[in-house]
Amino acid sequence: MTVPLIERFREVLPVSEATPVVSLGEGSTPLLRAPRLSERLGMELWLKWEASNPTGSYKDRGMTVAVSKAVEEGARAVICASTGNTAASAAAYAARAGMPALVLQPRGAVAGGKLAQTRALGARVLEVRGSFDEALASARELAARGTHALVNSLNPYRIEGQKTAVFEIVEELGSPPDAFVVPYGGGGNTRAYARGMRELGIDARLVSVEAAQRPTTLASAIRIAAPAHAASVAASGAEIVAVRDEDIVEAWRELAQTEGLFCEPASAAGLAALRLGAVRAERVVVTITGHGLKDPEAAALHAPLAAEVDPDPDAIAGAAA
Ligand code: F0G
Repeated sequence: MTVPLIERFREVLPVSEATPVVSLGEGSTPLLRAPRLSERLGMELWLKWEASNPTGSYKDRGMTVAVSKAVEEGARAVICASTGNTAASAAAYAARAGMPALVLQPRGAVAGGKLAQTRALGARVLEVRGSFDEALASARELAARGTHALVNSLNPYRIEGQKTAVFEIVEELGSPPDAFVVPYGGGGNTRAYARGMRELGIDARLVSVEAAQRPTTLASAIRIAAPAHAASVAASGAEIVAVRDEDIVEAWRELAQTEGLFCEPASAAGLAALRLGAVRAERVVVTITGHGLKDPEAAALHAPLAAEVDPDPDAIAGAAA
């Protein structure tokens, strides 16, 4: 049986016996050796495959805690602003809790898989005519009126849940890696990793990788002009690295075709930084935050094309090369 994240990490989370556990079997995700990429990069590379969470991204780690606490605290509904993954996760956990979810998304800027997921899960989706930052400001104001619990990563329970990735990695490796590498959008996850490291007394490097073209990047998950956690990220001692979209696409393709992991573009930011030589360390863990199926438009644009053939063996053999 899958152990809910809240049960596995109960002692280090702000939950009690009175907290109802709203779970979809999140966490306990694979930590995969990357033998071919390790050789290419001259390091021991591990990939934390967070796409195997129930809604296909690491957000579920935080959402199980945030929604469980919202239920415990008597909330009647949840709200978030999102570039897509927080929305899908909030929708799923709210459905699981029997609670409505209201989702604000920057109009036209959310990948198709995420929008489909969030709609299918029954959330009320509002496409805001504005940026993610504007949608987040509105979500905060609405939450302050008391009608909805805010489940963006400004909700401290989200950070608490997300720190557990660090606990899993260190437990599985038997000792800390030299560096943890994560993508940097709003910075909530960087903050969560910094907290996990602090609580374990670990002194490894934390590298947070942002898109150089923040407001326009093709990695729509991290298309955030003004990161909400910027001050905490700066204070956490994390090293910030910026990568170009071209570098993200190359890393995204290499991760899929060399190690078999199909992620969404934002999730390849960490590997992009490694390929540029920005993280020289011996043993490195790169967190792959979200599934490639979330963003079929990116695959349509940047993956090799399919070819058309007749159902004829000779034609197929000829076209196979
Ligand atoms: N990777 C993925 C797949 C994401 O969806 C996000 C953020 C990040 C990385 C960056 O994490 O914001 O904690 O620094 N997605 C948010 C959302 C903004 O609304 O789904 P961060």
